[in-house]
Amino acid sequence: LSSTSQFQQRNISYSKRWDLLPVSRDPREPEFKKEINTLTKERKDSFLSLTVGDPVIFGLVNEAVAPAINRAVEKKLFMYPEISGVQEEYRSAVSDFEKKSQGMDYDPANIVITAGVAGSMNVLHYTLLDPGDEVLTFSPLHYVGTSAYIRTLGANVIQVPALESNGWLPAPEDLRKAITPKTKLLMVNSPTNPQGTVYPDNILREIADIGAEFGIPIVSDEIYSLLTYDNVVAHPIGKFVKDNLVFTVSGVSKIFCAPGMRMGYICIKNSVEKFGKVADMVKRVGSMYGHASSGIPTPLMAAAAELYRSDLSSFRAILEKLKVRRALALKRLGEMSSLSLVRPMGALYFFPKITSKKWIDEYTFLLDLARSESVVFTPGATFGMGAEGHFRGVFMAEPSILSEAMDRLDRFLRKNAS
Ligand SMILES: Cc1ncc(COP(=O)(O)O)c(C=O)c1O
Repeated sequence: LSSTSQFQQRNISYSKRWDLLPVSRDPREPEFKKEINTLTKERKDSFLSLTVGDPVIFGLVNEAVAPAINRAVEKKLFMYPEISGVQEEYRSAVSDFEKKSQGMDYDPANIVITAGVAGSMNVLHYTLLDPGDEVLTFSPLHYVGTSAYIRTLGANVIQVPALESNGWLPAPEDLRKAITPKTKLLMVNSPTNPQGTVYPDNILREIADIGAEFGIPIVSDEIYSLLTYDNVVAHPIGKFVKDNLVFTVSGVSKIFCAPGMRMGYICIKNSVEKFGKVADMVKRVGSMYGHASSGIPTPLMAAAAELYRSDLSSFRAILEKLKVRRALALKRLGEMSSLSLVRPMGALYFFPKITSKKWIDEYTFLLDLARSESVVFTPGATFGMGAEGHFRGVFMAEPSILSEAMDRLDRFLRKNAS
């Protein structure tokens, strides 16, 4: 029998895996955030922040969301999600939506319900990655900044450059060069965050072919799928994939302007029988992951199903507002000196490059700007390699606020023009 003293000698500790959790996305980030928080508190409402990709905080509310949630509440859908039957309705509504809006055919049985795309990514990483595995992602991309979870699994993110000089499009030969025997997953996101790039069909097809050639499953983040402009259409990479496994992830956060609902999904396209075991394990882990939190709130799942079955008129109304706001931001940015910009064709952001050499990096530029003009954007480096010297702004704000932010940025650039 162990003596009590033996127990007392033990150190209480957390799992070693969490030593791999990075403290921040960039070493400059904590100081930057601290000063911005101080300025925000001191200057209150006069301080403008165009940083967060949350439509609701900018007043973009999809009119169909509240009635759908209210109906679920009136129906008293408060039972545990897995016995409610609502899960089946959600899967089938997502399947119909994917068919109607993306032209993709997914069996509802191959749809995994998750808490947003963040939850989808966690299920996929948790199921597929072992220590030492490599996940390829194009860079810069939102995903690079949010990939801490991968590192805690002992896996590594390998960034394949998508150069600004090439309109932020990746070169398929660079992807080919980055593949090693350890490559386990290939991440694709179109339209992209932060650049708003929409990958054309030829690039999607080449990426799809390389994935199939090497037998590397593709994760396609389509959270901004319907949010495109100037008659550009974002096609799902799944359309071009033949003999491979594709996990399409999406949710209501951006398309239905409801990130607080935390509703997302993984659609598994499994065209080859040999991948059946992997696909089944993703479903099992998805179910386990759901049970870990007792699943997704039943009324919100019912409301999301209703949104996916809707005629999308409320989405189109939001898109019209976004078109006006994007046009305003692009016009103003185009007139500014010391900035260059690849036009975003999708998503919700602009991602200009600071061409002036006056600042050593975008952090010092943005802090100077915030101190002198009370407006803040997101530093580029948080989005990975190739994003240095850029910043991301959201064009979702109301036109009067967006104009004011643009006035401030313009004034600052003029003051500092050398
Ligand atoms: C490319 C991309 N994927 C996923 C997410 C997060 O989605 P969710 O709210 O569904 O977790 C974001 C949020 O900004 C994003 O930009």
